[in-house]
Amino acid sequence: MNQGTIKPAAFPPDFVWGVATSAYQIEGAAKEDGRGLSIWDTFSHTPGKVLNGDTGDVACDHYHRWAEDLDIVAGLGVDAYRFSIAWPRVQPAGQGDWNEKGLDFYDRLVDRMLEMGLAPHATLYHWDLPQALQDVGGWANRDTCQRFADYAEYMGRRLGDRVASIATHNEPWCTAIKGNLLGEFAPGLRDEGVALQVAHHLLLSHGMALQAMRAAGVRAPLGIVLNQSPAHPASNAPEDVAAAARAYGDFVRWYADPIFLGRYPAITNYTRLPEAHENDFKNIGQPLDFLGINYYTRIWTSTAQPPVPAPGPHGYSDMDWETYPEGLTELLLGIQRDYDLPPIYITENGMACADVLANGRVADADRTEYLRSHLAAVDAARRGGVDVRGYFYWSLFDNFEWELGYDKRFGLVHVDYATQQRTLKDSAHWYRDFVLQHKETSK
Ligand code: FCB
Repeated sequence: MNQGTIKPAAFPPDFVWGVATSAYQIEGAAKEDGRGLSIWDTFSHTPGKVLNGDTGDVACDHYHRWAEDLDIVAGLGVDAYRFSIAWPRVQPAGQGDWNEKGLDFYDRLVDRMLEMGLAPHATLYHWDLPQALQDVGGWANRDTCQRFADYAEYMGRRLGDRVASIATHNEPWCTAIKGNLLGEFAPGLRDEGVALQVAHHLLLSHGMALQAMRAAGVRAPLGIVLNQSPAHPASNAPEDVAAAARAYGDFVRWYADPIFLGRYPAITNYTRLPEAHENDFKNIGQPLDFLGINYYTRIWTSTAQPPVPAPGPHGYSDMDWETYPEGLTELLLGIQRDYDLPPIYITENGMACADVLANGRVADADRTEYLRSHLAAVDAARRGGVDVRGYFYWSLFDNFEWELGYDKRFGLVHVDYATQQRTLKDSAHWYRDFVLQHKETSK
């Protein structure tokens, strides 16, 4: 198989290869074994919020098929599996009682991974806040930070000696901005003040969770997952250049500056600062054992009317996101310049394609090319001195893609939602071959 310009041997022997998923997107079993409601149950069951009225009620039925699903992960030859814990499954109301059946599910999942030689990488929050906490203000309520720190400590004590890493939040930008400013994600609000307060509390709860887990003696490396992109102006016109700097401020710096520099950035589109208490930045800026980066595309800013579109030399995904692998290298080199970084994992990177399953095969050449070119981009960043230790493809499966329901397919593995049949796409075979060759060359 042609692996183009990137060779498996470019990566060091201990480089971690993985695939990623999240709880609400694959588990289903929304009402089973004592699971509480999450804001995504409420949102997806609200007419008009999710394309085609899709919900995560069944999703990939992973709650029941987890064992065969782990066989698929192992069959890909990867080292690691990134998954998230559904807070309402383990603590239905977000405080108070713990749900043993929910906890057992993650115990079994982790134990089985360890038996199979797969490293479990857990994320505590991939957007499924217990609805009971939203009912008292959700992330806009400062008390939710303590609820999250308690949850983190409990899960840290429970799993922290067995998992390979624990990330607090996945993509706080999405929770804050898509959920509370753009109204596209649960809880579906459109309010800048609320959104920025939510972002602040996500960051604070992250820092409080790290402190709580460390105080409890959790041994697993602890970190956070941020979605980041470089921002490019459509022209050298000062308005476009300034717009790109503000967009980078909103998307990247609003989260990374508080964590690494102890303040919010000055260059931004936002018109206000959230309410912060004394010591908040000290609590937010806890040392990280690792930083997870999710990268999909670049940000493109044009102030012209109509706006100048991104040139898209490598095409676009089925999300209409421009494929731009060199942006990943640029981003990593940029954050390495701006911050004192811990080791980095690419915790998500992937492409939605309009896949067709025909005669048992999905010929997704575009996804393979996306994967190949982004691995080359990771290699280029590593050669530039960035300490990237691993790569997780998003996603293992086609799954519930939030407000777009089951319409967008990101998986290496195709899922037929009527039968729950899983089929490895061509890209999965390519990734497996690449990883296996890497193992060969690393012996
Ligand atoms: C990321 C999310 C993930 C998935 C991909 C496509 O923003 O973390 O759940 O939706 O995008």
